[in-house]
Amino acid sequence: QFKELVFSGVQPTGNLHLGNYLGAIKRFVAMQGTHDCIYCVVDMHAITVPQNPGDLTRQIREVTAAFLAAGIDPKRHIVFNQSQVPQHAELAWVFNCVARLGWLNRMTQFKDKAGKDRENASVGLYAYPNLMAADILVYRATHVPVGEDQKQHLELTRDIAQKFNNDWAESIAAHGHGEAFFPLTEPMIHGPATRVMSLRDGSKKMSKSDPSDYSRINLTDDADTIAQKVRKAKTDPEPLPSEVDGLKARPEAENLVAIYAALMDTTPDEVLRQHGGAQFSGFKASLVDVAVTKLSPVADEMRRLMDDPGHIDAVLADGSARARALASETMDAVKDIVGF
Ligand code: ADP
Ligand code: NA
Repeated sequence: QFKELVFSGVQPTGNLHLGNYLGAIKRFVAMQGTHDCIYCVVDMHAITVPQNPGDLTRQIREVTAAFLAAGIDPKRHIVFNQSQVPQHAELAWVFNCVARLGWLNRMTQFKDKAGKDRENASVGLYAYPNLMAADILVYRATHVPVGEDQKQHLELTRDIAQKFNNDWAESIAAHGHGEAFFPLTEPMIHGPATRVMSLRDGSKKMSKSDPSDYSRINLTDDADTIAQKVRKAKTDPEPLPSEVDGLKARPEAENLVAIYAALMDTTPDEVLRQHGGAQFSGFKASLVDVAVTKLSPVADEMRRLMDDPGHIDAVLADGSARARALASETMDAVKDIVGF
């Protein structure tokens, strides 16, 4: 019943990093040959925590530049920013009334991001997963390529779709939409580096908000900075094992091998076939070569694009108009189903 359609998004919260690239943007690029794709700069998610307006504008352009520099084609697919398509917020309200408090209370990301001072977290940060469900379902997208950190949110998206389909089943049928209005969207989480960990602490994910610059490789880092960060990355004293079993309980080693594999489009097994027995000093030097070779063309192109903000804004305006046309069809149908 549902045509295969991919949706995914990245927040314009600065510090775009290797985890965003390997867990998200690189996957977005790979989907383009086989699916219709909609890639969104989710700026409304960004203001769930305070943002300086000037920085936010620049960061919206920077994420767009990263999409384009990595190889997303905004003519064949859709690249836009969320705030320009009001149907995301409209559908999110309906979903605020579908999702249960108990469901949101189970979201681990809210607990992480709100920290100790939960009473002072924004309502938006709490309801964030409902807006994410609206982002996806306003296009009735069937597939979402994301990192593992978003898995729980995607399960919530499926729960919301299912409850909407159940609660309004009669109306959905009466309006000619058959048995289900919303698809149960599939996450696409596979391959190495679906969860890139911090370079300083193998138990934490690499994140935009980590206060340590050495915890992450930013997409815009130059070769020297990449080399410094990889050299300083935490490791253990053992050489690399010859099989992946030998990486168990060695999270920092496992992370560096997974990053290497993802950058090279190969598997951790293959990396260890080549580098098993090597000391980290040698392996890190190879990793620097690979990271610089793969990331510097993207960084160079991002810088070139950022010099022409007018062009980036035009890409977003065109994508937003095309996204609005699709989203308004869904929202018109939702209003009929609900009885508005
Ligand atoms: P962040 O979590 O860094 O604030 P976003 O929430 O904007 O970034 O996430 C954008 C995309 O990047 C999502 O698809 C998310 O799954 C992916 N992502 C974020 N951090 C990582 C990571 N450390 N490893 C793999 N993927 C990640
Ligand atoms: Na995230």
